[in-house]
Amino acid sequence: MCPVKEKNVKKVDVLLCTHGHFDHIGDAVEIAKKHNPLVVGIPELCGWLEKKGVKHTADMNKGGTQTVGDIKVTMVHADHSCGIQDGDEIVYGGEACGYVVEFTNGVKIYHAGDTNVFGDMQIIRELYAPEIAMIPIGDHYTMGPREAAYACKLLKPKTVIPMHFGTFPVLTGRPGDLHKLAPEVEVSEMKPGETIV
Ligand code: NI
Repeated sequence: MCPVKEKNVKKVDVLLCTHGHFDHIGDAVEIAKKHNPLVVGIPELCGWLEKKGVKHTADMNKGGTQTVGDIKVTMVHADHSCGIQDGDEIVYGGEACGYVVEFTNGVKIYHAGDTNVFGDMQIIRELYAPEIAMIPIGDHYTMGPREAAYACKLLKPKTVIPMHFGTFPVLTGRPGDLHKLAPEVEVSEMKPGETIV
């Protein structure tokens, strides 16, 4: 889905890894070796990335907050698995996670990673109150629109950016489905390669 012009990454300061599945860290080692960013992840995943030659990792665990580059990053829970496909083996990759990112202007974004909805999203709301939530809606490997609409009730974001849909045939959930089920939230559909301000 990635436009060709976006495949040649020009600059990376910080790389946040949510979990070890191939569609999430498939290019992480290559990009980290080329651009030498600070790579954030759960300790087991960072350990694996270091074994593969990644130099600057900043590991952390759920509930922790650290400043990386110009952003403040809090690692939060995700309800998902985290095996790393390494050759013909599956290696333990710690647990999947999400992130709350706070920018210097005070804007807070919750990136849920791959996850089902879970009740503690309410804690994320109460502790961090992110205005923008990036949540998966594709179904099958993550929550679908029904669960994502419930996540909106717990998170109460102003804007939702749907993700993890349309890339594999089984990821059938669409932003329009979420919009119908959660009309109280602004659903901002981004196209691959698009930037929103
Ligand atoms: Ni995954």
